[in-house]
Amino acid sequence: MTALIPDLIPQHVAIIMDGNGRWASQRGLPRFEGHRRGVEALRKTIRAAEELGIRYLTVYSFSSENWKRPATEVSDLMGLLRRFIRNDLAELHSRNIRVRVIGVKEGLAPDIIALLDESEQLTKNNTGLTFVVAFNYGARREIANAARLIAQAVKAGEINTDAIDEKLVSNYLNTVGIPDPELVIRTSGEQRLSNFLLWQSSYSEFVFTSGHWPDFGRDALEEALLVYQSRDRRFGGLSSAMGGVR
Ligand code: FPP
Repeated sequence: MTALIPDLIPQHVAIIMDGNGRWASQRGLPRFEGHRRGVEALRKTIRAAEELGIRYLTVYSFSSENWKRPATEVSDLMGLLRRFIRNDLAELHSRNIRVRVIGVKEGLAPDIIALLDESEQLTKNNTGLTFVVAFNYGARREIANAARLIAQAVKAGEINTDAIDEKLVSNYLNTVGIPDPELVIRTSGEQRLSNFLLWQSSYSEFVFTSGHWPDFGRDALEEALLVYQSRDRRFGGLSSAMGGVR
């Protein structure tokens, strides 16, 4: 296997964790079992990201569209989040991991909001990996919210319309302070973004892996990083072979 180039490890990797249901049904197991194994895969992936020197890891845990799933499955996913935070938060904190949550708290159960807030509060001064949980997140809603807040600030005379540029818009997104992901991974063969980080992934590389999320871990992450490292990122400029900068 080709070795990873340490200097080209992305700062920020974002993952669409897909295929829990298919993983389970292929084994004749209930979908819940796929999600439960998905949490195991998440633990392994956080560990691998730390070891590989990734600074920010964002995972799409619950989208604003996931409410359309049967109530029992929504409740299973909420239960897994509760359990994950109760079981793992102290350990993540002891590893100097900073937790950030992106998405809308409105509409979530009060105890879930409290757990998400506690995760952010407890770990806010940590300096290791930033683990970003996208929960009840939808990118279009995030961008629409930013537009509303900017309009309010203009109306209040706090900002001038001339000052509205890409940087200002970024500052009104949930991801303020987090660099854009250089790499977005989606497992399970589906090739779409599903309303995830639409603004932030403008120049991201996309790697689609065929395995289902419960089978993800260090090996799959390294494989995706190798594909990423083989890409020539041009940001609208020239390829490095043609004199562009990497
Ligand atoms: C996609 O599989 C996965 C999800 C919708 C949720 C991901 C959630 C977890 C890994 C666990 C809970 C999260 C945390 C933070 C503890 P799918 O159900 O869409 O799979 P399918 O497309 O095969 O049906």
